[in-house]
Amino acid sequence: MDVLAVKPLVLLLLCFVGCCAPTGVLLPGPIDAVLGGNVTIKTVGTTPDFIFILWGFNDGSGPSNIVTGSKDGVKVNDPFKGRASMNATTGDLSIGPLTSQDSGDYDISFVSSTGTVMGGVKLRVLEPVSDVSIKSSLSEAIEHNSTVVLTCSAKGSFLQFRWLRGDTPVVDDGNRFSVKNGELSSNLTIKDVLRTDLVGPIYCTAANKLQLRTSAPFNLTVYYGPDDVTISPLSPPKFISSKENFSLSCSAVSSPPADFLWYRDQQQMELMGPKLTLEVINAHSFGNKAGEYMCKAQNKKTNRKVSAGAVVIAVIEPVSSAEVSGPATTLIAGNGTANISCRAAGGSVDATKWLKDQQPLAAGGRLLFSADMSSLRIDPLQKEDNGEYTCQLLNAVSSAKAAYKMVVNYGPEQAAVQGEKAVEVNDKVALDCSAPSIPPANFTWKFNSTMTNVKTARYVIDMALYKNTGTYTCEAHNVVTGKTAASSHFLSVKEEGALDDGLSDGAIAGIVIAVLVALGAAIAVIIYCRQKVPVESPY
Ligand SMILES: *[C@@H]1O[C@H](CO)[C@@H](O)[C@H](O)[C@H]1NC(C)=O
Ligand SMILES: *[C@@H]1O[C@H](CO)[C@@H](O)[C@H](O)[C@H]1NC(C)=O
Ligand SMILES: *[C@@H]1O[C@H](CO)[C@@H](O)[C@H](O)[C@H]1NC(C)=O
Ligand SMILES: *[C@@H]1O[C@H](CO)[C@@H](O)[C@H](O)[C@H]1NC(C)=O
Ligand SMILES: *[C@@H]1O[C@H](CO)[C@@H](O)[C@H](O)[C@H]1NC(C)=O
Ligand SMILES: *[C@@H]1O[C@H](CO)[C@@H](O)[C@H](O)[C@H]1NC(C)=O
Ligand SMILES: *[C@@H]1O[C@H](CO)[C@@H](O)[C@H](O)[C@H]1NC(C)=O
Ligand SMILES: *[C@@H]1O[C@H](CO)[C@@H](O)[C@H](O)[C@H]1NC(C)=O
Ligand SMILES: *[C@@H]1O[C@H](CO)[C@@H](O)[C@H](O)[C@H]1NC(C)=O
Repeated sequence: MDVLAVKPLVLLLLCFVGCCAPTGVLLPGPIDAVLGGNVTIKTVGTTPDFIFILWGFNDGSGPSNIVTGSKDGVKVNDPFKGRASMNATTGDLSIGPLTSQDSGDYDISFVSSTGTVMGGVKLRVLEPVSDVSIKSSLSEAIEHNSTVVLTCSAKGSFLQFRWLRGDTPVVDDGNRFSVKNGELSSNLTIKDVLRTDLVGPIYCTAANKLQLRTSAPFNLTVYYGPDDVTISPLSPPKFISSKENFSLSCSAVSSPPADFLWYRDQQQMELMGPKLTLEVINAHSFGNKAGEYMCKAQNKKTNRKVSAGAVVIAVIEPVSSAEVSGPATTLIAGNGTANISCRAAGGSVDATKWLKDQQPLAAGGRLLFSADMSSLRIDPLQKEDNGEYTCQLLNAVSSAKAAYKMVVNYGPEQAAVQGEKAVEVNDKVALDCSAPSIPPANFTWKFNSTMTNVKTARYVIDMALYKNTGTYTCEAHNVVTGKTAASSHFLSVKEEGALDDGLSDGAIAGIVIAVLVALGAAIAVIIYCRQKVPVESPY
């Protein structure tokens, strides 16, 4: 039977016996005190005029006397000698340093002239809280997969445990977190641990009524991922020049950092790294064909492998430079053919375009292209084929062009002489001979069937004489084609004034100007005279 439970009854009984003595000598307990510390059990409501005070102790093995006090003095009994004292005025009992044997029931009997009061209280000597530490069931955990049991252990009496993440209490949520408390330890079990669960860091506290101790911060590595695996650029151009500075990158949220595997058309490439450069792709000699590139992120710890979306690109060698070649021999219109061909010094050509003098050239008539458009054949050659031929080589990522100037010799065709038909004596005369020809024709002139010394297209007579009347024949000769064309012109030289049959253009112009000046003067005079008409004064 609990002694404590009986005490109030005894007290009550004594109160009746003692008749109206002060009640409540001690406050209700239990009183907690730390091992090795001091404790003072205070009395309340006592009167100083006591006759004597008696403190007793019972640790369960039987009652013993600690101290007695009266007006004559205080006497401490044996097991407590040196460790206990009593305030002779109030009856307060002090004990220390405390040992664990001091736990037990303390009672006081307070005898005064008005009667006897008794009281009792329980003292608990608590072991100090110490060695609070956290241990984990695992040294490393895998997100979503591991169940982690953290054990907080401590030394001390009557311990209460609490778990904290940072400043926030971690409580049993009936789901992933469960807490199980024991006397000297507490287990925090985290099911399907998440990467955020164990950072904060985690602390545990162990406390009793008198003390609180906190563990060292604890953090556990939780491996996770790969998550959010992405390839970039997400939508690259479909065609990429092999000379470009381009690469595909793969990224993932992962701990430890992910390894990356690259695939082309489902075939793994040997490369392991977050970056797939064009250099690596070029080294594989995939040619110009498009391929589907994909990356996978792999986490060594979680054993998870996640792929990113694929991108399709074709790496294309640019056309490095165009070379065009045409016939090396002398070409003559109407006789022979020309074959102009075009090729790239490097790279692959997807399309070839031909231009003549910057205008697109189409097949048809005398023009024929080879099936791959790499050459152009003209048969037969004509003078119209003279010009600059440009070939343009194209692929998806580049273009190059080169030009060839073709000279087709022809002519002379139809010579013609231009000049006055009749002049007056002493006039200057110039006759111009023209004859389309490549190369330009050489000219010779005949006068009345007699060869002259003039070898230019223009025949000049500084001052015409009567004897210059006659037939002038220009002969144009092309040394390449060997052809000659001729044209005649008759010039007659007349006496002075013979050709003045009418006003010259200059004279007509002079007359017109004179008339206009006279008209202007007349108008000016009229305006002047009008202004001179007197105006009547208003005054
Ligand atoms: C306990 O009391 C004694 C004497 O009263 C004193 O010397 C000692 O320092 C006290 N100990 C503590 C832990 O308070
Ligand atoms: C006894 O207690 C009273 C009241 O608390 C105090 O004034 C007095 O100093 C104490 N006496 C001793 C000897 O400690
Ligand atoms: C805590 O877990 C350990 C095993 O991990 C077990 O031995 C111990 O009894 C548990 N303690 C409590 C209070 O559940
Ligand atoms: C917890 O993390 C800190 C730094 O973030 C580190 O210094 C410490 O060693 C870690 N403790 C454990 C138990 O992993
Ligand atoms: C390629 O581009 C990246 C950034 O876009 C740059 O850091 C790098 O120096 C470039 N490399 C070359 C060879 O130009
Ligand atoms: C994750 O858990 C499953 C069973 O729950 C187990 O088979 C698997 O091996 C675990 N993964 C890792 C990486 O431990
Ligand atoms: C074409 O040229 C060749 C030699 O260059 C010549 O023998 C042939 O007669 C010419 N034919 C014509 C139709 O001009
Ligand atoms: C031009 O000549 C090349 C080789 O000399 C030939 O392969 C090509 O077919 C020729 N082109 C045409 C349109 O005849
Ligand atoms: C040239 O021919 C014309 C007409 O045929 C003639 O009138 C003229 O006298 C001739 N001149 C000379 C110098 O022979």
